[in-house]
Amino acid sequence: MPLPLNRALEAVLDGADPERLRRATTRLIDVYRSGAPPTEQVLSDRVSATAYAAYRMPATHAAVARVLRYALEVAPDLAPHSLVDVGGGTGAAAWAAADAFPGLASVEVVDGSADALAVGADVARHGPRALAGARWTRRDLGGGRALPRADLVTVAYVLGELGPDLRDRVVDAAADAASEAGAVVAVLEPGTPRGFAAALAARDRLLAAGWHVLAPCPHEAACPLAAAGDWCHLAVRLDRTALHRRLKGAALGHEDEKVAYVVARRTPADTPAGRVLRHPVTRKGLVQLELCRDDGTASREVVSRRQGPRYRAARHAGWGDQWPPEGTDPAD
Ligand SMILES: C[S@@+](CC[C@H](N)C(=O)[O-])C[C@H]1O[C@@H](n2cnc3c(N)ncnc32)[C@H](O)[C@@H]1O
Repeated sequence: MPLPLNRALEAVLDGADPERLRRATTRLIDVYRSGAPPTEQVLSDRVSATAYAAYRMPATHAAVARVLRYALEVAPDLAPHSLVDVGGGTGAAAWAAADAFPGLASVEVVDGSADALAVGADVARHGPRALAGARWTRRDLGGGRALPRADLVTVAYVLGELGPDLRDRVVDAAADAASEAGAVVAVLEPGTPRGFAAALAARDRLLAAGWHVLAPCPHEAACPLAAAGDWCHLAVRLDRTALHRRLKGAALGHEDEKVAYVVARRTPADTPAGRVLRHPVTRKGLVQLELCRDDGTASREVVSRRQGPRYRAARHAGWGDQWPPEGTDPAD
């Protein structure tokens, strides 16, 4: 019986020295905090890779799951059979894709770190069939080799580790790998100005190559947030397990994973009228939504109780959601 990711992590970590893992986690957090491309391989030994899996996989999984859900809302016909997870490390994005797409039959994780791949394979053995049978391929993305072809290509939290030139080449290689008409590329980066810049550059590159954005943007014009010196991202809340809290020395039972992303497809889809850019602010009888709109602008909509169904929908809207929700009349 396949385990969910948290249980699979616990199974693999059972017996690992908690103090070594905690020290390795602290080091990784320090390395990633700067946001600058590392000068050497970060997941360079088994303990680092294990710590990475334990403290980052749940957050990456939650972010990728959310982003794929948004893409599915826009393109309900998405049903990839094959996935390549580029710079996939321990395979968190592959777990999220396998959960989102039960028809996923073939998974390949490509990464430069042998230790990350080995830990990922150990965790995946406890997962659903597509993961348990995944291929774990060691490859330097700078080597210039084409990526294996797939219906879905994920590039999660990788571009920030690469120099600008290699970043572009990896986005191009991801697009080449997703070669069929309905194929999809999903790029995720930390929800920081720097991460957003990398996600936006990937969006620009995919648009220039004739791709279409499924999410987050409800348009294919220039980003209105970037033009205003702001950055587009969203926060995904996830529960922390006891292990997760111990490794991070954290007291809170949850964390908010901030992510900037783009999901694009070769074929267009009906994008929504808008997308919520911040946590909605609720006041007595009013909900204030900051929106990115299908005309390429960003502005506020204030929905009042008098608007009945629209108000009820606004009260349930969350940061990152499409607006109005599916099935609602945009003019309601
Ligand atoms: C921050 S981790 C993200 C891992 C995974 N995608 C996730 O979100 O959990 C970055 C990954 O990119 C890989 N990576 C960085 N530079 C690479 C390169 N030049 N070639 C192959 N892999 C690389 C690292 O080994 C690491 O696994």
